[in-house]
Amino acid sequence: MSSPVSYELQGKVGVISVDNPPVNALSQVVRQGLLDAITAAQSDASEAVVIICEGRTFIAGADITEFGKPLQSPWLPELLDEIEASSKLVVAAIHGTALGGGFETALAAHYRCALASAKVGFPEVKLGLLPGAGGTQRTPRFAGVGASLELITSGAPITAGQAKQIGLIDKIVDGNLRTAAVAFAAELIADGTPIRRSRDQSVPEFDHSIFTDYRASLAKRARGQVAPGHIVSAVEAAATLPFEEGMAVERDLFMECMNSPQSAGMRHIFFAERQASRIEGLSKDTPRRPVESVGVIGGGTMGGGIAMSFANAGIPVTMIEISDEALQRGLSIIERNYAGSVKRGKLSEEKAAACRALVTGSTDYSALADVDMVVEAVFEDPDLKKKIFAQLDAVCKPGAILATNTSYQDVDAIAAATGRPEDVVGTHFFSPAHIMKLLEVVRGEKTADDVLSTVMALAKKIRKVAVVSGVCYGFIGNRMLRPYGNTVQLLLLEGASPQQIDAAMETWGMAMGPLRVFDLAGLDIGYSARKALADDEEGDPRTYRVSDSLVEAGRLGQKSGSGFYSYDEKRQPAADPVVDEVIEAAAAEFGIERREISDDEIVDRLIAALVDEGRKILDEGIAQRSSDIDVVYIYGYGFPVSRGGPMFYADQQ
Ligand code: 3HC
Ligand code: NAI
Repeated sequence: MSSPVSYELQGKVGVISVDNPPVNALSQVVRQGLLDAITAAQSDASEAVVIICEGRTFIAGADITEFGKPLQSPWLPELLDEIEASSKLVVAAIHGTALGGGFETALAAHYRCALASAKVGFPEVKLGLLPGAGGTQRTPRFAGVGASLELITSGAPITAGQAKQIGLIDKIVDGNLRTAAVAFAAELIADGTPIRRSRDQSVPEFDHSIFTDYRASLAKRARGQVAPGHIVSAVEAAATLPFEEGMAVERDLFMECMNSPQSAGMRHIFFAERQASRIEGLSKDTPRRPVESVGVIGGGTMGGGIAMSFANAGIPVTMIEISDEALQRGLSIIERNYAGSVKRGKLSEEKAAACRALVTGSTDYSALADVDMVVEAVFEDPDLKKKIFAQLDAVCKPGAILATNTSYQDVDAIAAATGRPEDVVGTHFFSPAHIMKLLEVVRGEKTADDVLSTVMALAKKIRKVAVVSGVCYGFIGNRMLRPYGNTVQLLLLEGASPQQIDAAMETWGMAMGPLRVFDLAGLDIGYSARKALADDEEGDPRTYRVSDSLVEAGRLGQKSGSGFYSYDEKRQPAADPVVDEVIEAAAAEFGIERREISDDEIVDRLIAALVDEGRKILDEGIAQRSSDIDVVYIYGYGFPVSRGGPMFYADQQ
């Protein structure tokens, strides 16, 4: 088998080229190839060496598929030591994304040039890791402590220009990268520029309190995660210890992270997220329909956010509302959201204005005659939805994709209201829709393959993580929420308080405890949904008596100022003795003797409730695979990514 790394002399410059699609990850053969090439360069006629990559990117990191398996020589830190020790000057030539071990490779080179379009960074923290091949030691020597902590703990890449500003890139080049990099190397030799090894550089002056401050802020920002704190310790070691000792600290901390269940969970999600876009029985080259314009029906909570998601990706949106007044209200919420993003520094004024200008509105359905896709987001009323789909059937052009954002309703029944059920699909966004990453794509019985394939690709374009679900009440995510909610109600009756349940789940890692979530969503929603059911469909009264009593007492959740908690004007929840009385009365009604319940029992029973329903969803073929369920819970329901999702967690137990 030929090596993915080639080496050839171009004049006085030896060019090492990596070609390991898709992202030039540093698998064993690449590491071996790099080692062989840098070794060969030591004794040939080259005066300098360029490391460059073929394809779409510079090395995007270690090969994550090798993690958790026995280490294979050469080990990356050792390879990078060899590169840094080279007696010939080494230049890294960066395009695409130099990430993790890829950027560490570049930092082991003596100089770095990059195309302006390139990005560099350390995404390891998102995998529950820290850079393990000198990244925490070399970065501060060029960029200083503050910039390094920000770069490595955030995991967010920066542009080549930003990297140059903080000393991580030496030169921005344009045109053909190989030509420019070889010329840069030749220029360095001609100028007699000395070899510059990171290990010989000292870390610029810093204030020691920065480490304490960072630890404190990370304890809040990255609650419960081990890697961010370890990154601070590794950078501190770089700033206070000799290079080799700092490297040893980094190695120990890296191995600790690598062997942690947190990193295993996060690596699982990295692949699960990518796997979720594969649809069984659908080939990669299934044709796609063009989607260059979209209609959104309903400008309420969801419609506004959905419109923004498309506008943010440059897709023009026509929003339809029931009246001019409702339309203006919808558009002004969008306006306010964009203004907020500008104020928080998330979006430039120009970009916000450009996005905002892409959303126009109408009260006339005929404005949808030419759009490529429509997303319906009106009230959760099946008859209204069917009526609207019949109307869409009448006005939309042939081939337009007709999508519903329903949370629970039968997508097949909605599709049957049209004469083109093959064009109908569910696109279940999560609130706030312009922020939450999950999109459940509901495949109806008759949904055409090209519609499904188009929507999955479109999801990526609007920066969502899409998971396919079959049709059932609540699809994957909301269906699992039901037994979870029922178990919460039982725990209350049996002796737990709302505060204890929320605290137990939040300490375990959930972004928000279940009772705070119920209060946020509104207790009246479940109440009304249940009241619409026949008596024998309402289920076990123990699973709703407490909530219903609260609703009947006017406690609808945050929107009415009280629910399971009382809320002040800043929406801060406080325990309320009235709620305890309601719970105690319900327990007495059912003859339940309340007892001490441990936090462990709370967590175990609630997660088990999710997992049991997840198993049924798998058995019924509603979800394609167990990892899809994990993706739904991580991106849609605030499940801690470091636990890998409910199904992965259950497997680990
Ligand atoms: N190892 C193995 N496979 C990888 C990989 C990696 N580091 N990065 C990406 N891939 C695979 C993906 O699984 C995917 O495979 P598939 O087509 O079979 O599903 C394929 O490459 C393409 O990836 P994407 O779909 O993500 O492609 P994009 O173009 O959207 O994004 C990217 C490209 C920005 C490079 C993105 O893939 C990415 O962020 N990769 C991860 C980068 C990373 O985390 N690097 C650090 C690794 S840890 C490390 O280096 C430790 C070191 O410090 C010792
Ligand atoms: P909402 O009540 O905030 O907004 C609905 C909007 O639809 C209103 O502005 C209303 O004027 C408009 N509308 C009603 N009939 C219309 C018609 N015939 N033509 C045009 N516009 C019409 O409701 P929300 O919360 O945005 O929910 C919309 C849909 O999204 C529902 O199906 C809901 O189940 C679903 N959903 C809601 C989520 C949430 O967290 N709120 C999350 C995911 C899905």
